[in-house]
Amino acid sequence: MKFAYVCVLFILIVVENGSKAYPLDEESATAPEDYMDYVELDPMDNVAELQKTSTGRTWLGLATTLIEKPAHHAFVFHFPMATQEQLELSGLIKSVHQRLRDSAKQQDPETVWKEHVRDEGLLKSYAEAMHKLATCYWDRTMEVSCKRSNSRIEWVVASCRCYFHGATPLLYLFREKDDKVMQAIDAGYRYEHRPYTIDRIKLLDVGSCYDPFASFPDFDVTAIDIAPAGSSVWHCDFLEAEVNKTLSIPSISEQHHSIEAFPGDHYDAIVFSLLLEYLPSSEQRLRCCRKAYDLLKPEGILLIITPDSRHQGANAKLMKNWRYTLGLMGFSRIKIEKLEHVTCMVFRKCIFPTVGKRWCDIHREAYMEPVLNIPQDFNETKLEEKDDSAMDVPRTDEDDGEIRQAFAGLPFLES
Ligand SMILES: C[S@@+](CC[C@H](N)C(=O)[O-])C[C@H]1O[C@@H](n2cnc3c(N)ncnc32)[C@H](O)[C@@H]1O
Ligand SMILES: *[C@@H]1O[C@H](CO)[C@@H](O)[C@H](O)[C@H]1NC(C)=O
Ligand SMILES: *[C@@H]1O[C@H](CO)[C@@H](O)[C@H](O)[C@H]1NC(C)=O
Repeated sequence: MKFAYVCVLFILIVVENGSKAYPLDEESATAPEDYMDYVELDPMDNVAELQKTSTGRTWLGLATTLIEKPAHHAFVFHFPMATQEQLELSGLIKSVHQRLRDSAKQQDPETVWKEHVRDEGLLKSYAEAMHKLATCYWDRTMEVSCKRSNSRIEWVVASCRCYFHGATPLLYLFREKDDKVMQAIDAGYRYEHRPYTIDRIKLLDVGSCYDPFASFPDFDVTAIDIAPAGSSVWHCDFLEAEVNKTLSIPSISEQHHSIEAFPGDHYDAIVFSLLLEYLPSSEQRLRCCRKAYDLLKPEGILLIITPDSRHQGANAKLMKNWRYTLGLMGFSRIKIEKLEHVTCMVFRKCIFPTVGKRWCDIHREAYMEPVLNIPQDFNETKLEEKDDSAMDVPRTDEDDGEIRQAFAGLPFLES
């Protein structure tokens, strides 16, 4: 059973300068679908089987705690038009990604990557552009829109807190769910769980750029990047970083301010925020996810944010295939949420990889393959697939142009 939750009731969108207002209400279909948020709660997949946990909370109860936003609220979106500079910055970023993908089609992606990370000038311009775009444009733009400043960063923070802390950390509920799955596989299954105790959440931010999580005191952050945009960010190419299970802390080089190797089973949470689409090949994206698996403690979480300016459902197959692919690695997806311009997902490292794999056995569909593709890997020219007509919204070319303008530069994906 799927549980899709759509909650946008009263939206008032004001596009400044363009002086065009889009007043919306429950029934009207004038909302550009990009503004729709939805929450899909994966535990609900098995709602009949898992009605009650031993803590006495139903999964429905869990669902309401997971949905952090009220069902009725008024958003005021207030998007200034993109400035010329903003367009240039996002253009630079998109072009770096695009060129990497194009080169990787002609030559070996590994060679392409090795050459890329040696191009210090380009990495530096990218880092400056990304830093400026994130802090001067996106965050500011978002701030006026209903305090949704920095939405992807705060989404990560909120998701981690609710998984590890709180009255009943979600971690324990998912642990019980895993136990039920294990019992379904083997009726005699018993396991002595130990409490998962942490003080600060040990978080590895891969492709951090400017260390946006540094300001949260309950997080112990290690920020890495091939092109650090701040002094707290360690230099490290995650694709090449070693995993050394005998280490107890990362092995660093003071001289290069770099991390050379990571301990296994070490982090509570790993973040890939707008990282995977930088990597030109599916194989490289897979390698990053496998490495994250090795670096996470059992029951740790991998949080993936990926650009998605299309309406809910347009990339659903692709995202389901990610779920399948990471399932084969031993992850189980515990949360997916579409925010403006991005899709955000939480994957849990199951204590027993068979839990992830079992989901794959049950839910495998003909199109699924162990790959991590992104929409830009395909030459899609069509903006909409008409398979989700309920969410489709008629709008004029003029509206389109204006909306695109207002969003140019937000997670660089357009098309
Ligand atoms: C689009 S930016 C995202 C920055 C930040 N995470 C955010 O959400 O605003 C992608 C970042 O990933 C970094 N990056 C790409 N490949 C990487 C790799 N293999 N190892 C470490 N960092 C990488 C880039 O240098 C860039 O700073
Ligand atoms: C792993 O780390 C240990 C301790 O620092 C070191 O002795 C060993 O050589 C490392 N192993 C590899 C494969 O790098
Ligand atoms: C994608 O489209 C571009 C032109 O828009 C073309 O040059 C390129 O060869 C196409 N790539 C593939 C893989 O079809």
